[in-house]
Amino acid sequence: METLYWKEGVLYVLDQTLIPYRIEYVPCRTHTEAADTIRSMQVRGAPAIGAVAAYGMVLAALGATARDREELRGALALACRRLEETRPTAVNLRWALERMMAKAEAVEGDAGTVCTALLSEADAIFREDVTANEQMGAYGQGLVPEQARILTHCNAGALATAGFGTALGVIRAAHRAGKNIEVYATETRPYMQGTRLTTFELIREGIEVTLITDSMAASLMSVRGLDLVVVGADRITANGDVANKIGTYGLAVLARFHGIPFFVAAPRSTIDMRLAGGAQIPIEERDHDEITHFRGQRVAPEGVRVWNPAFDVTPNELITAIITEAGVLRPPYGPALREIM
Ligand code: MRU
Repeated sequence: METLYWKEGVLYVLDQTLIPYRIEYVPCRTHTEAADTIRSMQVRGAPAIGAVAAYGMVLAALGATARDREELRGALALACRRLEETRPTAVNLRWALERMMAKAEAVEGDAGTVCTALLSEADAIFREDVTANEQMGAYGQGLVPEQARILTHCNAGALATAGFGTALGVIRAAHRAGKNIEVYATETRPYMQGTRLTTFELIREGIEVTLITDSMAASLMSVRGLDLVVVGADRITANGDVANKIGTYGLAVLARFHGIPFFVAAPRSTIDMRLAGGAQIPIEERDHDEITHFRGQRVAPEGVRVWNPAFDVTPNELITAIITEAGVLRPPYGPALREIM
């Protein structure tokens, strides 16, 4: 099952808001439609939204009525802004858009040539992400014991990427290597990516998974015991601080207290060397209804104040290792990240 695919000038995006009930694809024929799938969370996960944005730029180029390069440049710049403003935290979005803009600038020829070049660049972004995830899986599974209880948070699987997944890629690779894996997935309040998506992916893959509420993690660590935690990332800054789904920071603190290794798996497209530390990462704040309502039904009293940040920042000192497609990085992360970037 593809998270997204391109066919005959149309981008098809798997509608993740319908999983696990239905498998349906949203056809996108314009960059605005592609942007809408990101904004509405029909597609989510840092590398997946980067790939959708890349194809969104192809749609913008194809749809532009530009007669010359200058007009096309203007249309692409506008599309780039529209796509970038959809979600602020995952840097893969900006990374993919900058790569597409650079390609549009670099290629010589008419508007048609630019369109062709942009499509092959988007395809490359897609393919490279799958390869990076497989490489991360190969490196990361080396950190997993033969018999392992693993906790993961949110969904950093095939659904969050072009394929295979980052944190779930590590788990997949360990499972395929014949290791005896038992996964605990947090439900991931309030958007329930763990409940809806991670369990869905793992069950389909035949990997043993147990769903817990977010607040059970401490008890899981102390009562049942855990061998490691592995999560994905939305942005990693130059010092190794990691923005990921809200609740990740708390899990890292708990893991440190219980002496459990805490791993982050992310491709280089998630690393933002322009930011020195996690305090500079823009954190998306989402609709209050996600907390005050349950299945469309209000569960909190009218007028209650709400804070709903979608991500938090885990300080680098709580992270045992960062798994990338270029290898496993250990602290101090500053020099290790500079080396691979
Ligand atoms: O709000 P989401 O569902 O887009 O958040 C996703 C996450 O936080 C993932 O852990 C992260 O993007 C890594 S996905 C490989």
